[in-house]
Amino acid sequence: MKRFTNEITVDAKILGDHLKFRSGKQTQNRFLKAALTERVSSFDPQNPTKHGLPSQTLLNLYDKWGNGQFGAILTGNVIVDSTHLESAGNAIIFKEGDGPERRELFGKWSKNIKQSGSLAFVQLSHGGRQTPVTVQPNPFSASSVQLAGERRFTGFGKPVELTIEQIQTEVIDRFAYAAKFAYETGFDGVELHAAHGYLLAQFTSPTTNKRTDKYGGSLENRLRIILEIYDAIRQQVPTEFIVGIKTNSVEFQEQGTTVDDAKEMCSIFEEKGFDFVELSGGTYEKIAFHHLRESTKQREAFFLEFAEKIRPVFKNTVVYLTGGFRTVKAMVEAVESDATQGIGLGRPITAEPDLPRKILSGQVASSIANNFDENNFAITNLASNSQMEQMGRTTFAEVHNNILANISDFSNTETSDRYLEAVKGYSEYMKNEASQGKPIHGVLRFD
Ligand SMILES: Cc1cc2nc3c(=O)[nH]c(=O)nc-3n(C[C@H](O)[C@H](O)[C@H](O)COP(=O)(O)O)c2cc1C
Repeated sequence: MKRFTNEITVDAKILGDHLKFRSGKQTQNRFLKAALTERVSSFDPQNPTKHGLPSQTLLNLYDKWGNGQFGAILTGNVIVDSTHLESAGNAIIFKEGDGPERRELFGKWSKNIKQSGSLAFVQLSHGGRQTPVTVQPNPFSASSVQLAGERRFTGFGKPVELTIEQIQTEVIDRFAYAAKFAYETGFDGVELHAAHGYLLAQFTSPTTNKRTDKYGGSLENRLRIILEIYDAIRQQVPTEFIVGIKTNSVEFQEQGTTVDDAKEMCSIFEEKGFDFVELSGGTYEKIAFHHLRESTKQREAFFLEFAEKIRPVFKNTVVYLTGGFRTVKAMVEAVESDATQGIGLGRPITAEPDLPRKILSGQVASSIANNFDENNFAITNLASNSQMEQMGRTTFAEVHNNILANISDFSNTETSDRYLEAVKGYSEYMKNEASQGKPIHGVLRFD
């Protein structure tokens, strides 16, 4: 198994510092497990109130991460409206599907996350116009600006502009309901997903928000929905419940959010009282999980130069930076230079669920490498989902002596080549499902 580097050149100690949230709780270290959609919860077209129930695979997966010594662990996107998914197989919190079974499963989920001291956060999201057309032909959005192109061979419907009343009932109320549910099922907090082009980002970005009412136009108006969700959540939960947000530091597209907009938005989040902001970037139209410039490659984090510009606005709000971190050296430097306080990790921790533990104990200098083209998010994303499904096949107790036992090592050429072959077959399957109008549920199962 190959790592990005085996050379330990810096002390990882600083990554073990606590981060204290203004509402009271603190983390055991600086690591954040980023949101990674799992797509392994139930999806039952015959019985939509049963959509989005966490599966045993999902619980086992978080049993692994829950033993990985993260400061905080985010779930993958959990959707607040069962008709506006990011994908079939998302976990969902919605009043129409509430009941003892869902509560028990979410309770087990938070318990698995928290077993070695990590804080547990639910990432709350709404697909808006990025909902696959096979799930929702007439999705809600800020305005009726349709998303061109396809994802996983599936297109997107023409959106319906939410009325002012629907903004309240279909969005704000649903986010607040889900946050209360998260609190009641044992989670320490929620993160609003306002990055990557999902519904809340459709409001903040001028590319997709063409409204002329109080939810469109000025930056203040475009942010209004988020601030109203924040207030609605705060009314439902005790003060120590953590409320954070994932936002784009930049969108890299015409009329998209610029770093100056992002800075202003973040200063409003700081003033509003958000416990943390996680900085990311890009949308479905402009995926940004790779280096756009040679100059940022060395420092690894894709959005570091934007984070540095935004950073001064944060005083009481904790800031996390996610995307691109692979070596301890780059993580330590990002913290020491004060570009960020927390380090978000995505793809590296699907290859190795206990990476923070190994970094903090000085065992490793970097994450496990892989042979895929780093710039090909489609492949690295599929590969991560397959590794997550593999992790979900066993509990932590069953493999605790060798936690990597059944996770594919994509730094091995034979394995990565075989995976690329498997992707060809899976692509045919996805095309076929999509051409029949069927939502794609689950992930590529790889042995
Ligand atoms: C399999 C996969 C699923 C993802 N799902 C989500 C998600 O549900 N919510 C989200 O905000 N970001 C999601 N992302 C983006 C990650 O949170 C993260 O921002 C991105 O992968 C960059 O970090 P990395 O370079 O450490 O992987 C996903 C990424 C991957 C690879």
